[in-house]
Amino acid sequence: MTAPLRAFVLRGADAAAALDRLHVQAEVLGAIEGDGEVTVWLADALPPQPFADLTIEELPSAVANATSTGLEHDQPIAVADDLLVRPPWVARPVGFRGIELIVPRGMAFGSGEHASTKATLTLLHDGWDAPASFGDVGTGSGILAAYAAARGCPKIVACDVEEAAVAAARELLPQAQIALGGPETLAAADCVVANLTATELHGCLSTILTRWTGRSRLLFGGMREHEVAGVLARLPVAPDRLRRIEEFTAAVWAPAADVDQWPVFAGPRR
Ligand SMILES: C[S@@+](CC[C@H](N)C(=O)[O-])C[C@H]1O[C@@H](n2cnc3c(N)ncnc32)[C@H](O)[C@@H]1O
Repeated sequence: MTAPLRAFVLRGADAAAALDRLHVQAEVLGAIEGDGEVTVWLADALPPQPFADLTIEELPSAVANATSTGLEHDQPIAVADDLLVRPPWVARPVGFRGIELIVPRGMAFGSGEHASTKATLTLLHDGWDAPASFGDVGTGSGILAAYAAARGCPKIVACDVEEAAVAAARELLPQAQIALGGPETLAAADCVVANLTATELHGCLSTILTRWTGRSRLLFGGMREHEVAGVLARLPVAPDRLRRIEEFTAAVWAPAADVDQWPVFAGPRR
């Protein structure tokens, strides 16, 4: 029999901030966000919340365990026939023998549903060449780095400018080095990925290239159709492949021993 859950209603201006914090502090098994209130389901007691504008009410156990959590409709996300992403509360599909990335759906971007994540993951998966090190710029939940970990990559470095993302990725990948900041915080890596908006990518593209050894592949994701040409025009070499899913395109470049000689062109920026 499954252990009963506990449910807490958080009310006040700080309710959303408390939910963000809870995703880092505890395993949030369910959350329904309403108007000015959030109901969360946990396996245990609610950790202390240091917020001024917050009241907390625990629901009676019968109510907590009779109410929908909103998470029971989650499904595994098939990225390829042999690659899926699922949150921990969704069971492994019977008979599935491929690679599973188990990523909680929390506050950080990257639980596998977004087309830019899928496009980047697909290219990463196709032609994976077992790099000795992997760098993930804008790691979000850590999903792309989790792929490298699942493939046994011995050295994983990642960064994100959002504290919440760094906290989530560190929890998912305790063995990785995950820094708060941009690509300048990253150690050089053989395979480098960056699934960023085109504007973010343009802002740090030259720095990303200084972190790529060129021994394995380079991947950029997150470009909308009208932004692809502008990003590709910054690099002196054409990508090996493009992969578009819905409105997002990802690109992969083959290993390039001469990356330190690459001129990085200034424009166009859009
Ligand atoms: C589109 S999400 C991608 C998340 C995850 N890598 C994925 O593929 O699903 C982009 C992430 O990059 C982060 N970000 C944006 N600009 C950045 C920069 N210059 N350096 C590092 N991280 C950045 C954002 O905070 C966000 O978490």
